[in-house]
Amino acid sequence: MQHAKQISGQAQRNPLEILSDMLDCDMKEVNRLILQNMQSDVPVIPKLAEYLIAAGGKRIRPLLTLASTALFDGPMDKSYHLAAAVEFIHTATLLHDDVVDQSNERRGQKAANLIFGNQASVLVGDFLFSKSFQMMVESGSLEILAILSNAAAIIAQGEVLQLSTTNDIETKMPVYLEVIESKTAALFAASCEVGAVLSNQDQEIVTAMRDYGTKLGTAFQIIDDALDYDADQKTLGKELGDDFREGKITAPIIFALENVDKEQREFWRRTLGYKDQKNGDFEHALALINAHDALNKTIQLAKDYAVEATKALSPLPQSEMKTILSDLTSYIITRNF
Ligand code: IPE
Ligand code: IPE
Ligand code: MG
Ligand code: MG
Repeated sequence: MQHAKQISGQAQRNPLEILSDMLDCDMKEVNRLILQNMQSDVPVIPKLAEYLIAAGGKRIRPLLTLASTALFDGPMDKSYHLAAAVEFIHTATLLHDDVVDQSNERRGQKAANLIFGNQASVLVGDFLFSKSFQMMVESGSLEILAILSNAAAIIAQGEVLQLSTTNDIETKMPVYLEVIESKTAALFAASCEVGAVLSNQDQEIVTAMRDYGTKLGTAFQIIDDALDYDADQKTLGKELGDDFREGKITAPIIFALENVDKEQREFWRRTLGYKDQKNGDFEHALALINAHDALNKTIQLAKDYAVEATKALSPLPQSEMKTILSDLTSYIITRNF
């Protein structure tokens, strides 16, 4: 198989690098489709799309689609269109997300909204969304169209649910989990599921791939929420403290609010509830998070999901790709970008 480069002798490389190496030829095809489909006679569209897409990104979702097709010896040429569609959905949500979150930095450079404005970011996001549907249709499968369009609707729903929990310090863990399962895990799940469907796998395997994606995506977002309080900004490529500034109620905050005294609750109510923040508040928030061991608890929560993700793979026959997907679950816990 052209895509299945040998991986022996690459023990030091992390699972994401190994996956990228194995699927290098396939990813080149996906990138070609991405470039082709962001073209338009309206110059600001390719300009803005290229600004964000050329800045890189981990490409984890299209890799999952390719991997879950290769895993079952499925039709890679069809998978290219789906992988590109998945990355377009992701790119569109990032454009919208940075407007909603008023973020300043993305992929190590100024966020597109700062360069091109909010209006262009939202509209080009819509363009990429629409293009993703055109690419899905090329798979010729109504089932795949249903999976990906369903994911797109759930992502939007998750972002809206998040909006209604923002600044509400009463938000509890189940609601937080519902938000992240919708806004992030749904696309991971669909990225994995479509590869199995494309490869005509039976329902047990399709469900296993979907569950794997859901758990992996949930762990991925929990770690993203931890990194917002504790990362090297340069490596992360995003501004730290975005979630604090916006008053987002994420896992580190939910843990920091457990068994909290009146004074601390008042601090969170002022800074997150009313977004009344002054110099030194972010540092104080970090100290409280630390005092409640909230980042370690957050990482433990992500680990629990990573273990579930690995378990989900158990119905799959043993293969090199299965091992890599399994290793990916613990790798995303340790990621710092
Ligand atoms: C960012 O996703 C949005 C989240 C779901 C946390 P990624 O971390 O996959 O972003 P890129 O594509 O690598 O920049
Ligand atoms: C990302 O959530 C979810 C989507 C893009 C749908 P975040 O708001 O946490 O992502 P970052 O931190 O901006 O990448
Ligand atoms: Mg954001
Ligand atoms: Mg984030």
